[in-house]
Amino acid sequence: MKDIFFVSDTHFGHRPEFLWKPRGFSSVEEMDEAIIENWNKVVKQGDIVYHLGDTMLNDNAHGLECFKRLNGQIFLIYGNHDTDARKNLLFTELRGKMLGGWYAWLIKYNKLSIYMSHYPTLTANYDSGKHFSQHVINLHAHTHQKTNFLNPTNPFMYHVGVDSHNCTPVHIDEIISDIRQRWEEIGHLPTPVIPEDNYPYDKIFSDKYNVQPQDTYPYNSII
Ligand SMILES: [Fe+2]
Repeated sequence: MKDIFFVSDTHFGHRPEFLWKPRGFSSVEEMDEAIIENWNKVVKQGDIVYHLGDTMLNDNAHGLECFKRLNGQIFLIYGNHDTDARKNLLFTELRGKMLGGWYAWLIKYNKLSIYMSHYPTLTANYDSGKHFSQHVINLHAHTHQKTNFLNPTNPFMYHVGVDSHNCTPVHIDEIISDIRQRWEEIGHLPTPVIPEDNYPYDKIFSDKYNVQPQDTYPYNSII
């Protein structure tokens, strides 16, 4: 039986130390080898891996060689570093391994809706009375955070990147279990929400660009 895994931000070959050092490695070469080894420990040939973007940087030939060594078949959700050149290389050189690619995609798994995107996407409200499975789960990448939840009070946005998963793809059942546990921990009754505090990007964005939160996140007005 095929198992399903998620991963992102492998950044194979990405030389600056700000990328590999926080991951606990002493070189990009060490990081690349560890990711490949970890991947192949959990992913079997025939398994499916959704890679949510940022496959490789700096040396595309090296990145391609890394991908050749990975077990399983891969769907790619494009990240901001997945240029046309890199996508063309992967999809032309690895036919049969690279099965398809999109900018975002929604799958159904055990009656759950799972929306995959490179950038975090707000797909669920804090509606009361909704059953767990009625929420759309967003699996995302990009943030390189060390924790799985971008917003600790929103269990339905989950980071699948290697930075919070010990440089290893994570099984879909483990993700669902993490999300369900967080949902049960925080409760699922409506939480009093001050819109400006509800969305961390507002503050990040407003601090950086010196604009008011209501200018950055129009949905505040309808929450
Ligand atoms: Fe990235």
